[in-house]
Formats: sequence, C-alpha cells, structure tokens
Amino acid sequence: GDVAVLVPAAGAGVRLGPGAPKALRPLAGEPLLVHAVRRIAAAPSVHTIVVAAPAADVGAVRQLLAPVAPVAVVAGGAERQASVAAALAAVPAGPEIVLVHDAARALTPPELVESVAEAVRAGHDAVVPVLPVVDTIKEVGAGEVVLGTVDRSALRAVQTPQGFRRSVLAAAHEAAGDPLTDDAGLVEKLGVPVVCVPGSEYALKVTRPFDLALAEHLLAIGA
Ligand code: CTP
Ligand code: MG
Repeated sequence: GDVAVLVPAAGAGVRLGPGAPKALRPLAGEPLLVHAVRRIAAAPSVHTIVVAAPAADVGAVRQLLAPVAPVAVVAGGAERQASVAAALAAVPAGPEIVLVHDAARALTPPELVESVAEAVRAGHDAVVPVLPVVDTIKEVGAGEVVLGTVDRSALRAVQTPQGFRRSVLAAAHEAAGDPLTDDAGLVEKLGVPVVCVPGSEYALKVTRPFDLALAEHLLAIGA
C-alpha cells in the first residue's frame, strides 16, 4: 500500500444528542470508529492509519482498535482541522498519498477508499467523492425569507475520504487560516484544482439520531 488514511474522530457529536464522543457511540453494538477503521483497513492500498481521538480517550481508543487493525492514535484538537493536522504530523515517511476520512462515515465501503486513492495515483492532486444534490436549494435571508433558488445542477454534496498528494495536503494545512469543515477547502485556497469522483450513499455522515437509525438498518441488511 502507498496510502495513509487520517481519521478525524475527536468530535463531541453534539448534533447526535447527549452521550459519549460520537466516534465512540455504538452502532449495532460496536463504536462507529470500529466500523470505520475496519472498512478502511480492508482497502488494499492502505498502508498506514492514523486516528485523531478525543484527548481524554487516546488510551482507550488504542485498546479498542488494537484487535481491528494496526493504527496510530493521536490526540485531536478543538476543531476538525486541528485534529487532521495532528494526525498528518504523525504519518511516517513513505506514503505519498494521504486520505482524510471522517470516523462518522462509518459504513463507507473499502471500494470508495480505493477509487479515491486511485484517482490521486492517476495524477490528481486533490480528489473528493461527491453525490448530486437531490433537494431544491434556496438561499434565505433575515426572517427566513427566500432570496432565491440556487441552480442545483451545479451543486455537489461532498463526502470523505478526500484524497491528496501528500505534499499538497501538507502545504494546505501549513497555509491554513480559519477552520474549514473539509480539507479540500484548504487546498482550494492554494489554487490547486480539486477533482470530483462518484461518492457512495453508504458514506453518509452519521450526524443526527436519524442517521444512526439509518446506519443501523443498512448494517442489518448487509452494509
Ligand atoms: N472531528 C474531529 N475533531 C473535532 C471535530 C470533529 O476529529 N474537533 C471529527 C469527528 O469526530 C467526525 C468528523 O470530524 O468524525 C466530522 O465531524 P462532525 O460530523 O461534525 O462530528 P462532530 O464534530 O463530532 O459532531 P457535532 O458537530 O454534531 O458535534
Ligand atoms: Mg462537528
């Protein structure tokens, strides 16, 4: 394998409601992070996995993942971007392709990890998996009054894993300013082209209780 995968898993999961940090909450009896790491490790290109865990749970996460796959675990930061930066700093010399993958996208198929890695290998510096937007999107102003309708055909919903030539991701994080919600956004600011590849509905981000229920159902039917 020539790929390192960084797994930001240090978020609280506020939108999921009260409880443990989201990556440690159970999905069909196992933490979301275990499901995510198992699928990442099943991708043949993957050489190294670095997890950014909640600072208080680094030891527990090491123990949790030891039987799942060989992983390094570091303490994450207050924002996702800081968690990714901490994981990136822990990647050993070797892998020249780095993927960043949310622990919360626990059911992401190994095939998506492979297809993103392959697109980077084929020469793209930055690659994001996307789905078309299905809802009509409106811009709203004060008082929830509609200002206009956005042309949906030009929009994409962006998932992870996002894939990068290692030097490009490192430069993007070095140049980073205010925290963004994804890594491709940092690369865009460098002026480096970001290319879309087809995403997967199974790569949904478990964010709200409804998503957890959906993920439980998808697992029950074989995801
Ligand atoms: N993440 C992280 N460090 C942070 C915040 C988020 O590593 N300081 C990770 C989360 O663990 C998750 C991914 O980034 O795997 C995507 O973030 P999100 O879905 O927003 O998760 P949370 O921040 O945990 O959820 P919420 O925003 O509802 O609190
Ligand atoms: Mg968050």
